[in-house]
Amino acid sequence: MLLVALLVAPVLPAQAPATPRSYERFAVVCQSREAAAAGAAVLARGGNAVDAAVATAFAMAVTYPAAGNIGGGGFLVLFAPAREEGGAVVAETLTTFDFRERAPARAHPRMFLDEKGEYDATRHHWSHLAVGVPGTVAGLGLAHSRHGRLPWQELLAPAVKLAREGFPVSAGLAESIVEVIDDLRPAPSARRQFTREGRRPLRPGELLVQPELADTIERIANHGAREFYTGRTAELLVREMERGGGWITAADLVGYRAVERPAIVGTYRDVTVASMGPPSSGGIALVEMLNILETFDLRESGPGSAATVHLMAEAMRRAFADRARFVGDVDFVDVPIERLTSKSHAAELARSISTRRASSSSPTTFTWPPESDETTHISIVDGDGMAVSLTTTLEQSFGARIVVPGAGFLLNNQMGDFNGAPGLTTDTGLIGTPPNLAGPGKRMISSMTPTILLRDSGSGRRLAAVVGSPGGRTIINSVLGVVIQFVDFGRNIQEAVDAPRVHHQWLPDVVWLERGFSPDTRRLLRELGHDVRLRDGPQGSVMAIAPDPESGRLRIGRDRRRPGSAAAGR
Ligand code: DON
Repeated sequence: MLLVALLVAPVLPAQAPATPRSYERFAVVCQSREAAAAGAAVLARGGNAVDAAVATAFAMAVTYPAAGNIGGGGFLVLFAPAREEGGAVVAETLTTFDFRERAPARAHPRMFLDEKGEYDATRHHWSHLAVGVPGTVAGLGLAHSRHGRLPWQELLAPAVKLAREGFPVSAGLAESIVEVIDDLRPAPSARRQFTREGRRPLRPGELLVQPELADTIERIANHGAREFYTGRTAELLVREMERGGGWITAADLVGYRAVERPAIVGTYRDVTVASMGPPSSGGIALVEMLNILETFDLRESGPGSAATVHLMAEAMRRAFADRARFVGDVDFVDVPIERLTSKSHAAELARSISTRRASSSSPTTFTWPPESDETTHISIVDGDGMAVSLTTTLEQSFGARIVVPGAGFLLNNQMGDFNGAPGLTTDTGLIGTPPNLAGPGKRMISSMTPTILLRDSGSGRRLAAVVGSPGGRTIINSVLGVVIQFVDFGRNIQEAVDAPRVHHQWLPDVVWLERGFSPDTRRLLRELGHDVRLRDGPQGSVMAIAPDPESGRLRIGRDRRRPGSAAAGR
């Protein structure tokens, strides 16, 4: 008993310190102690932030099966300040990598309807049809080929070791295994991976050893990222699709490409905000909300007040309505990015906000299907000020709950982020608007919001903060809340992460509050006309890093809302 307690102790949430932990040169913060250590070790050996991101993300595919993955997808935002090299100035880098899953070639808008033409939620979210063509390996490979410094193989070695030799199961991991164990398929192989000899779920402190996953990552290490799409791994994935009635073919895998795209860039008071563009709605919605809020004096209304929460909820309502109307895969639909992120559009929306009365979301329009809470965020800063903000997901916890036999990795159920069917719009939360209907090769809309804040310095833009979170649509609002705490209220990054969070998503027309807002605030919000509800659990799990403007030390904002978050650095 004592042994178990000792092993578990380091991953239990701690009390918030008033002063954030900080590191002098480099730092990694994420939802897994082993993965943070893997990333920090790469930085200590002279790797840069992209190298560390590759090492951390692959390690998380082993240690955090709820959302760390090679069978899912994600987005990475990268910033490197301008620097001098050999007497010449090398320009700043600000870019993003989109490795969102894509629909297979056979996909079509009505693919989630059954034989009778009825919408079938199981097909949409839990069948082999719910699996999108995975993007993570291609995305990390692309970012590494453009910006990495250390050899690929070396970066994957810690993940191989963690999978082959095992690592002690944390309390959080043990809990997540219990939640999904009866759904894992195909049985018995999938179940065996996370149980003791196929019987009971692994307990805290026991070793999770994953030899098939170790072999898979080793193949990717030895043969490069394309192995996942063209090699033995691809073969095993396609075999599982055939077995389970999925539509992903060898050609879909061969055809998958990650894409480098320009960041969505806005300004908010004295910071530049760089975040992810479509198919993620995160960057557009974040910049739109910040533009609206910039027209109000939040310092005057103050942190945690009803006046501030009201303005935030009204900004959220408007940005989420635009998200629903306009955002989808830019390779398929025209998304009016410039207009949505412009100051003039925000000014127009801000004029429609009353400080004395809540607006209402139109019930004649539509809502979005629920999204789960399983995604994960990694923030990294290296010794040269290069920063990576990386959010990655399988969609739900353990994705589709399918472990590819012989390959040991979990498949996503990201196709569930497409709309259910054309015209299928109900007040229970289904939607059928065109921009986000399934189609061959299309990427489904996302809310992931990996973000980097910059400030001007005498010698070009410098990092102000790296931020991101899991949490489905709440992601965008969790990031928004941290930015406001940090920029408007001058909170340090740990305080900004700790501050209670707010969520409104247009429809349903509800303001969700985390615990921590006073009863007076809640009463005043109700008096303004809001339907205020208290969230039982936490909203999101933000991982952030912000250099202290005076000392330059890298301060950590590590969310303790969920167990297992960890920072490492030097
Ligand atoms: O891409 C998205 O927005 C969702 N599939 C993410 C799901 C999620 O964040 C669950 N998170 N904790």
